[in-house]
Amino acid sequence: MKLLLSEKEVQKKVSALARQISCDYSGKEVLLIGILKGAFIFMADLARQMTVPVKIDFVRLASYGSGRCSSGKIKLTKDVEMPIKGKDVLVIEDIIDTGITLRYLCRCLKARRPRSLKVVALLDKPQRRRVNFEADYIGFKIPDHFVVGYGLDCGEEYRNLRGIYII
Ligand code: IMP
Ligand code: MG
Repeated sequence: MKLLLSEKEVQKKVSALARQISCDYSGKEVLLIGILKGAFIFMADLARQMTVPVKIDFVRLASYGSGRCSSGKIKLTKDVEMPIKGKDVLVIEDIIDTGITLRYLCRCLKARRPRSLKVVALLDKPQRRRVNFEADYIGFKIPDHFVVGYGLDCGEEYRNLRGIYII
């Protein structure tokens, strides 16, 4: 495994994102929706650095199975538990690859009429995009490598690494 982003680089970026997001949502309460499982560490760090009030919920979507290739088919296997109508919703994702997961999720959530809906992703692999999707906030754009750590896994391993590694 080769180090792509050190713990320090990741933490610096998360702080900058939290600052920007808190500024953009100033005076509002944000409903953070984390996409399980990959976003759990990013979400925990981001939420703790935000200075506006937040509520926390999760969804789980299945697209990858245990391999490295997207099946292209998405299933919402765990829905949010809070109503999102009229709320300022910020979806938190670990990485955008083909874009299929987030396009699907955003369509589902928009249909429920949140007041606003934005997406933050720590990592983005723009070269891999198969459908049109742009997040509102991106931590790092990275080349087309499979990466693990800081929540991201390969066959459920390596999620607890503090940095991000190319496998
Ligand atoms: P998308 O629907 O193709 O954009 O897939 C996004 C999901 O694929 C992410 O939430 C990750 O769970 C997974 N994924 C994509 N690329 C990687 C990677 O490099 N490492 C680990 N998981 C990845
Ligand atoms: Mg994921």
